[in-house]
Order: sequence, then C-alpha cells, then structure tokens
Amino acid sequence: MPIFQNPWFETVAEAQRRAKRVLPSSVYGALIAGSERGTTLDDNLAAFAELGFMPHVVGHHGERDLSTTVLGIPVSMPVIVSPTGVQAVHPDGEVAVARAAKNRGTIMGLSSFASKSVEEVTAANENTFFQVYWTGTKEQMTRRIHRAREAGAKALIVTTDWSFSNGRDWGSPAIPEKLDLKTMVKFAPNVLPHPSWLLRYAKRVEIPDLTVPNLKEPGQDAPTFFGAYGEWLQTPPPQWEDIAWIKEQWDGPIVLKGVTRVDDAKRAVDVGVDAISVSNHGGNDLDTQPATIRVLPAIAEAVGDQVEVYLDGGIRRGGDVAKALALGARAVLIGRAYLWGLAANGQAGVENVFDILRGGLDSAVLGLAHASVHELGRDDLVIPAGFERASGGGDAEAREPVSATSSPRTKDPRY
Ligand SMILES: Cc1cc2nc3c(=O)[nH]c(=O)nc-3n(C[C@H](O)[C@H](O)[C@H](O)COP(=O)(O)O)c2cc1C
Repeated sequence: MPIFQNPWFETVAEAQRRAKRVLPSSVYGALIAGSERGTTLDDNLAAFAELGFMPHVVGHHGERDLSTTVLGIPVSMPVIVSPTGVQAVHPDGEVAVARAAKNRGTIMGLSSFASKSVEEVTAANENTFFQVYWTGTKEQMTRRIHRAREAGAKALIVTTDWSFSNGRDWGSPAIPEKLDLKTMVKFAPNVLPHPSWLLRYAKRVEIPDLTVPNLKEPGQDAPTFFGAYGEWLQTPPPQWEDIAWIKEQWDGPIVLKGVTRVDDAKRAVDVGVDAISVSNHGGNDLDTQPATIRVLPAIAEAVGDQVEVYLDGGIRRGGDVAKALALGARAVLIGRAYLWGLAANGQAGVENVFDILRGGLDSAVLGLAHASVHELGRDDLVIPAGFERASGGGDAEAREPVSATSSPRTKDPRY
C-alpha cells in the first residue's frame, strides 16, 4: 500500500482491489474461487443489479432502526459473518473477523476449515456460530460438535451443498499442502511481489501454517487443509435423517446452509432445523445454478415463519441487504466482502466493510421511507419480468425454472 493511501475504503469493490494488490495471487485466487464457467459466481452479483429501488420523495423518517434478532440473538443490523475456510489471508485470520463482528454488534460464523480454533474465536466474540460439514466418522463429528458447544458456540451451521465440482476455466490457484522452507522458495515468485502481506507475517515471526485446528483429533496434530478435504471427499454424503442426527448431538439451534429448492426448504422444516440459509456456496459449487436472490422469494413464501430464512451470495452493498430483506430474508451472511476487508486492512478493514453495508442499508431504508428494516417489502422494488426462479414446487409458472443467465466471467475486466 502506498504510504499516503488512506486505509479507509468507501466501497467493497475498492477493498477487493486492495486485496488483489496485497495478497499473493494464489491466495487472492483462492478467495475468488468459483467453479467451472463462473456463471453462478457472476449471477450472484448481476442479479442484485437487476433489481431496482422505488424510493419516496417526501415522508422519510429521521430515525431508522436497522437492528433485528438472529436465532434470538440481538444484532445491530441484519448482516452476519458467513463461515469461510480460508487460510493465509491475514495472521489474525478469523479472530480479527470475530472481533470486528463483535465491535459492530453482530454474529461470527466460523468454518470448521478455518485457520483459528473455535476456542480462540468464541473468546473474541461470544456470539459465534460454528459451521460443520458432513465429514469423518460419526464419533469424530460428535467430538467436534461437542467441542464447539463446550467452547460456547451459540448455533451450529450445517453446510451440505458441496458436490466436489472442481476445475475453473480461468485456472485454479496453486496452493501448497504446507509451508516449509522448500515450499517458501518454490512460491517466492508468487509471494515476493507482495511485501506488505509478507511483512504482516514476518513481524510476528510467523508463516501461515495452513492447518485446520477445528478438525484436530485428540493426541494428533491438526490436519492440513488438504488432509481435511480428503477425509471429507471419502465420507458418504448425508441423508435427511443424518441432519436429524446432528440436531440430537448438538441439542441447540441449527442452520441448514445451502438450500436453493422449495422442496428442500420444506424438508428442512420437517426435520426440525431452526433456520435455513438460501445459499449456493458463493458460486463455488455446482455451476449454472441461479443466483440465490432469484430463488429466495419462492422459498421464503413456502416456509413462512416456520424457520428463519437467511440469504448469502453476492452481498457487496447495503442496498443488496435491503433487497434480500425485501424479498423475504430475515438477515444475510457475507463471505467475500469481509475477506476483501480483512486482506485490505485486517480487523479495521472488516469493520470498514460492516460500516459500508450499514450505511448503504440505512440509505435504502431512508429513501424507501421506512422506520425499520422489518418494513422492507416487495413493493420497494422493481422486479423485472422473469427475474425469479423456483424449483421443487413454489409458484413455478411465474418463476420460470431456468438456470443462471450471466456471461462467462473470464472476460470480466474486474478480475
Ligand atoms: C474462499 C471461500 C471459502 C469458503 N468456505 C466455506 C466453508 O468453509 N464453509 C461454508 O459453509 N461455506 C464456505 N464458503 C461459502 C460462504 O460461507 C458463503 O456461502 C459465500 O461466500 C457467500 O457468497 P459471497 O462470497 O458472494 O458473499 C466459502 C466461500 C469462499 C469464497
């Protein structure tokens, strides 16, 4: 970063530009992620731009309430941290994100593939939700779930939408299994052009360790990221009764993350989860599934108030948060937005991202002449014909069951 650059940034797009400058290309590429053509990755963003606001000219409220609750926990605004299993972005990693979330009055979502332990993260933010995949034996899963409960996690996020699709038309980043001297030398051309990133670790006499402490077995070292991925790949995928089994082990609130179909949303209600996140894993899973904001309305309508409904995927502005709420979400989860902030400026960068989202949400609530986020509704939006999608039930006729629409991201100048 040039010495004269103000560390504060005004949009998430600027945070992303700074992240690109700061991070080695392999780490930056791992955050872009996406799969195959990147159609879903793009559609998650493009769909928000297709929705328009219909503001009022007079009658705005001088005071606006952005607060809500998520699974009974009061939050200052309807934006919480989505779990991301990423490594080497910043030496403080998820602890910095958890502190930023706490300082901005909201909830931390911690991935079981994260670089910091659940104990460190719950110590930084008592309102932490711990995320699990269906990986390993039932004994291992039970141990991990109980560990998270003992650490004080308030809810369990169960992510089951992963289908191991791999390969990206624009190429996947090279990521080492672990960082030792030999690998450091090999990756030097990738790392040396990014001295400020290197300095962050060098100042602490540390190198990124690329292990996943939350999957550590008693008496063993924490597995590497790739070791953990291998275990997951070999685990037979979960069935609906397994979700019920997880609920028994956890004995607390559960969020099922990755719902995109109406029939799955209804099954989730039937097995007794407390919340669902309408999510396509940020466009990293099966490509060409539609943007989450397109499938949200049918799902929200189908489940009503039987469970809380969240959305994640493509949130980059406070206006996006308002649009998601207007179409039926109680809250949103953010992924890359906070990762860009973390890369750009550590904990302060994540706080900066929350402030941007808060400001944009407040502008939308003001312009739409509401006093509270709970008043946002469909009437606030211009929804183009054919915008929505539905599968597995819902008002499918009105919502054309077709896939994502945007063009291949390989030509996108942003990247
Ligand atoms: C680099 C990266 C790693 C992720 N790792 C996880 C993970 O470990 N567990 C999980 O449930 N979701 C994971 N996700 C998905 C996010 O929780 C979230 O669904 C997604 O990032 C939302 O889209 P957005 O990045 O456009 O906000 C990951 C996403 C990214 C970009």
